[in-house]
Amino acid sequence: IRDLTDEQLRGKRALVRVDFNVPLDGGKVGDDTRIVAALPTIQYLVERGARVVLFSHLGRPKAAPDPKYSMRPVAERLAELMPGTKVEFCPASDGDEAVQCTERLQPGGVVVLENTRFLPGEEKNDPALSKAFARLGDVYVNDAFGSAHRAHASTEGVAHLLRPAVAGFLMEKELAYLGQALSDPKRPFVAILGGAKISGKLDVIEQLLPKVDRMLIGGAMANTFFKAMGLETGTSLVEDDRVEMAKSLLSKGGDKLVLPVDAVVAPELKSDARTTVVARDAVPADQAMYDVGPRTVDAFAKEIRAAKTVVWNGPMGVFETPPFDAGTLGVARALAEATAAGATTVVGGGDSAAAIAQAGLEDRVTHVSTGGGASLEFLEGKVLPGVAALDTRDA
Ligand code: 3PG
Repeated sequence: IRDLTDEQLRGKRALVRVDFNVPLDGGKVGDDTRIVAALPTIQYLVERGARVVLFSHLGRPKAAPDPKYSMRPVAERLAELMPGTKVEFCPASDGDEAVQCTERLQPGGVVVLENTRFLPGEEKNDPALSKAFARLGDVYVNDAFGSAHRAHASTEGVAHLLRPAVAGFLMEKELAYLGQALSDPKRPFVAILGGAKISGKLDVIEQLLPKVDRMLIGGAMANTFFKAMGLETGTSLVEDDRVEMAKSLLSKGGDKLVLPVDAVVAPELKSDARTTVVARDAVPADQAMYDVGPRTVDAFAKEIRAAKTVVWNGPMGVFETPPFDAGTLGVARALAEATAAGATTVVGGGDSAAAIAQAGLEDRVTHVSTGGGASLEFLEGKVLPGVAALDTRDA
């Protein structure tokens, strides 16, 4: 974005794809992290006298206008975050109405267009819609890292039609932190993977295993490994059709793969459930594992504190339901300690970002990604279509 010249910006319409897919709560923005994260790019363009046209999807509406998913509250929140800048809302994102919204803008003004997913062509990456989007700007900026894994009209199609098409500051920052961890990590390099299902993490395990010094596995996905080791898993979530795969990962991973040594078990998933800490080979047949145990947290924390690069994706237990949040919070604290000791710590978006925020430690790690699915696909080594479509000669 810094390579855009004054002539390319002053008085020109900068069409900026942002990821303003934020939670709404009672008609207001519930969490503005993603809006705040896009401010450096928006402010940069405003200061250079561009006419800033922001567009994004919000939620998963059924390709038709739905007031529940309107961008209006997002525009209102952005206006609060940018006092002194005129921020408008436009109730359309294609057609003459949207074009007029962009043409009415004064240099240094900002408009937030309506939800792109109200349009049937968006998720289909319909070339006709990409063309309609291209009428809304003179240059294209993609700052929506969180949506870069989607090949949609607003993230991919339109990027081929406007030149220059460049990455915004947030996009650059995300790609730099995640990219550096993968291509040139300071060692020891530790990956922490968690979450419910091994099936969603197989590709990332395969991709990261050769690169890391240690891979710490928690969350219910560890249960499938336990089953592969012949351990009793009680009523825990296990993916039976992935047990063979887990076996082969165990032999491939050798010492690098570190599994929990104990677990918090309960008869059912309830905040007031009767919980017990057991060794991993002593899980009762009628109970389920809902979190890693304290000995595991200690062992994981030791690895994390010794690391120079840490990438974390996925919670260690059912952290939304305390007391099963202890393992995840313990890992979050170890990450903050490693950061204070000079390590580069990167937290994948989605659940892990929510967990680090729940621990109140989001400012004490190096980088919290704004992308859930996008950061996972990036770590899997996949090309993100929203990035590939940019005109890197100008980016
Ligand atoms: C996200 O929240 O991960 C992105 O905004 C993408 O949303 P989607 O999964 O609905 O495409």
